[in-house]
Amino acid sequence: MNGRVFSGAQPTGTLHIGNYFGAIRNWAALQEDHECVYCIVDYHAITIEVDPNVLRAASRSMALDLIACGIDPERSILFVQSAVPEHTELAWILGTVTSYGDLTRMTQFKDKSAGRKFVSAGLFTYPVLQAADILLYRATGVPVGKDQVQHLELSRRIARRFNSRYGELFPEPEPIVPKKGARIMSLADPSIKMSKSAGEAHYIGVMEDESSIRKKIRSAVTDVGLKPGSEMSPGVENLFEILELATAEGGDPTIVRELREEFEAGKLLYSRLKDAVFEELIRIIRPIQQRRAEVAQSGKIEEILEEGAMRARELARPTIAEVRKRVGLG
Ligand code: TRP
Repeated sequence: MNGRVFSGAQPTGTLHIGNYFGAIRNWAALQEDHECVYCIVDYHAITIEVDPNVLRAASRSMALDLIACGIDPERSILFVQSAVPEHTELAWILGTVTSYGDLTRMTQFKDKSAGRKFVSAGLFTYPVLQAADILLYRATGVPVGKDQVQHLELSRRIARRFNSRYGELFPEPEPIVPKKGARIMSLADPSIKMSKSAGEAHYIGVMEDESSIRKKIRSAVTDVGLKPGSEMSPGVENLFEILELATAEGGDPTIVRELREEFEAGKLLYSRLKDAVFEELIRIIRPIQQRRAEVAQSGKIEEILEEGAMRARELARPTIAEVRKRVGLG
């Protein structure tokens, strides 16, 4: 074992292939040689108004998605954040060793608050809760996408300030960012990252049905002119990226080479590239969808999450007890 890993995913309803290639499959791989704690962060989700019934369902749905993508609740701890209230207790305490100025510099806050009528204080202090998530388990590695590196840097600063004020307790967590797959772009607008918020046409859901996936890939933005040696447009590059990532997972990489050669020669038909992307994606997605259906069918998800929360609390309690003692609380 190479230390403890922690990561969190917001219960957004459904995973898309950007989440899968950028983060989740890395979570699964880390299980091989790390002690992994994976959390569905519903306390984070309420920083932006969300319907309570939708939220509760989304947390369960995200748990099923994660298991389907290979998170093994026997090997790893998988739980819903709010089932372990120690997260919020530690967040309050860490808020007192967090610099206000640092929080004002968080780009995710600037992005998420822009254009909103109501911006909650929770959205502003969101990175403190994230630091609490990680430090509560004294995790040393945090698999995340590139967009979370700034939050991780803040988590380290928070750990450092706590340690210097109250004595060494928290290791400084390092981000584990995948080299490949960290940035899948939208199919409908390859200048922006794939995300659900941009709308249906922009992403491919891991649990989406095949005909809908086919349609989205067919209508993915490419370009018109094809001359030998011409530069690849962002849309085409993105399709190649997806194809490469998919074939790297037990597929045949020769197809990528062939299609690249055809591109170089100015002979590539984009319909051929799109068909290959579809085939390779489906090859990966189909067994994930089957697994999800099986786990959902088994009716065990509540039990799995309860067990996960129990194991998480066992790790969290001694940390909180030590923090309270050091800070002089209780
Ligand atoms: N902020 C992360 C995101 O938007 C989610 C998250 C919450 C997280 N707590 C975490 C990620 C702790 C890593 C570790 O993706």
